[in-house]
Amino acid sequence: MQIDKLSKVYFSPTNTTQEIVEAIAKGLGIEDTERIDLTKADTRENFSLNLNSNNELLIIGVPVYEERIPDLVKEPLNNLRGEEQGVILIAVYGNIGEGIALKELKNLVEKKGFNVVAAGSFIGEHSFSNSQLKIATGRPDEDDLKQAKQFAMRITEKLLKIDNIEELPKLNIQGELPLMAKVLPKNSAKIFAKRPKVAKEKCNNCGICIKVCPVGAIDQEELKINNEICLRCFACAKKCPQEARNIKFKKELLVKFILRKKGAERKEVKIYL
Ligand SMILES: Cc1cc2nc3c(=O)[nH]c(=O)nc-3n(C[C@H](O)[C@H](O)[C@H](O)COP(=O)(O)O)c2cc1C
Repeated sequence: MQIDKLSKVYFSPTNTTQEIVEAIAKGLGIEDTERIDLTKADTRENFSLNLNSNNELLIIGVPVYEERIPDLVKEPLNNLRGEEQGVILIAVYGNIGEGIALKELKNLVEKKGFNVVAAGSFIGEHSFSNSQLKIATGRPDEDDLKQAKQFAMRITEKLLKIDNIEELPKLNIQGELPLMAKVLPKNSAKIFAKRPKVAKEKCNNCGICIKVCPVGAIDQEELKINNEICLRCFACAKKCPQEARNIKFKKELLVKFILRKKGAERKEVKIYL
C-alpha cells in the first residue's frame, strides 16, 4: 500500500527523540508530512488528531521516563483518533532501561483505533549526563541514525507488501518494569536530581531556559524553578548558551554510582517489525 501523508508526533525536551523520529521520517521519504511537537505546553493542551484516510501514517516518539512513557504525554495522546491507520512507535531512553514504555504506547494507540506497523527503542544521551557523569554521550550517534534509516526502509518494504493495514499481524512488544521502578514513587527523578538553579553571574537573561522548559516551571522575573513542576529533563541546563545552570544530584555519590553502573554497557537499538 502507498502512504500519502505522515504525521509526526513527539515529546522531546533535549531533542534526542526528535532526532530519531526525524531520521525515520526522512528514511520513509513521504513528501506530505505534519509535525506536532508536544514538548510545548500549549501544543499539548490543544492537541487532538483525527486520521481518517487509509493512506495516512502516524509516528509517535517519546522519551522513557522512569521506565515508562512520561505522564504528561498521556493526556494529549488520549486525544488521538484513528480508523485503523498504521502507527510507528518510538521510545528513546538514556542507556539505563527502556522498561515498559513501548508496551504502554502500544496499548494506548490500539485503544485509539490504530494498528502498530513497527516499533523501536533507541538510545539518546541521558538527560542527567554531563561532563562529569557521561551516560550515552553523543547518542544517537552515526550508527544509531544508520539503524533508524534502515528501520524506515524495512517499514516501507513491509507496507508495500500489503493492500490494507488490517492485514498485518499484531506485534508482540516485550518489556518489563525492573524492581526499582516498581518500588520508587512517581516523579522519582526529584529524589535523585536537584532542580538546576541559575548562576546569576553567568546568566545574561536571554530567556532561552524559560522558552525551552516543557512545563513552564521557570519564573520569568527571578528565573527560579518551581520544584514541584520541574521534570528534571535539564533542557534548561543543556540549552543555556552561558552554561549558567548545572546538573546536580542529591545523595550524589550513590546516585552517580547507580547511574554509572547501570549505564556503563552500551545498549543497542531494538526493533519490532
Ligand atoms: C525524569 C526522567 C526520567 C528518566 N528515566 C529514564 C529511564 O528510566 N531509563 C533510561 O534509560 N533513561 C531515562 N531518562 C533519560 C531519557 O530517557 C533520555 O535522556 C532521552 O534520550 C531523553 O529524550 P529527549 O532528548 O527527547 O528529551 C530519564 C530522563 C528523565 C528526565
